[in-house]
Amino acid sequence: MYAAAVIVAWAVAGSGGVTVACILVAAGTGERLGVGRPKALVEVGGTPIVRRAAEAVAASGVVQHLVVAAPTWLGNHVGRLCALPAFDGRDQLVVVSGGLTRQQSVEGALTGTPAEADVVLVHDAARCFAPPALIAQVVAAVRAGAYAVVPAVPVVDTLVEVDEPGSTVVGTPDRSRLRAVQTPQGFRRQVLVDAHLAATRRGDQDATDDAGLVRRLGVKVHVIHGADEAFKITTPQDLERAEALLAAGRLR
Ligand code: CTP
Ligand code: MG
Repeated sequence: MYAAAVIVAWAVAGSGGVTVACILVAAGTGERLGVGRPKALVEVGGTPIVRRAAEAVAASGVVQHLVVAAPTWLGNHVGRLCALPAFDGRDQLVVVSGGLTRQQSVEGALTGTPAEADVVLVHDAARCFAPPALIAQVVAAVRAGAYAVVPAVPVVDTLVEVDEPGSTVVGTPDRSRLRAVQTPQGFRRQVLVDAHLAATRRGDQDATDDAGLVRRLGVKVHVIHGADEAFKITTPQDLERAEALLAAGRLR
């Protein structure tokens, strides 16, 4: 089991004094969206995706530091887009250059989180409609004692496992026990740091799920109810759906 000593003082920290940082990964190229520029800068309802995501983090009211992983050549622009009143204090907004993979972007952003941060969230900018209440719930679950927290929703399709060429079904997992994981995922900072160190040592470079890395340390990952709005904008269809839901007043 992961060294529990790290967190002994945690439970008695009470309601004040817990510092929360949120890593917002926004450095992807958005290949599947296919609009020819980084997905984080694509507008939905007239607002760039990364700005929407930062606004939701600010609106949660529980995050003091925002660390954004941005495409290297767009760091200044992304910094301006994320410059919100909630993050206008000293060291409250940091923009770092993203890596070639999401894992590397998270790893780089982790070095930009303040050492005094007790809780670190990792959030996909592409899930820009994740509700502020969900963000607050993830933080609350870590504060209540979890080392790692993921929001997840039941899957609607039956999923099958296939062989390497993908031509033969080798397993049909019981759907009732499957979940689709979302972000923000929440961690005690040291747990996330250790998980990424271990991943790098193993030679992993493109892990897409931080909770999966944490679980490989033998750390229990707590699941909370996700939100439909926390879907990820990946394809042109996702973008169309987001525009339609916004127009219908079903997304903020
Ligand atoms: N991301 C990142 N750095 C990378 C790759 C991804 O910060 N090198 C971020 C993306 O910006 C996104 C989140 O990780 O907010 C989830 O990734 P995904 O939806 O796959 O975005 P992209 O990698 O940009 O899209 P695609 O895989 O279609 O190129
Ligand atoms: Mg990707």
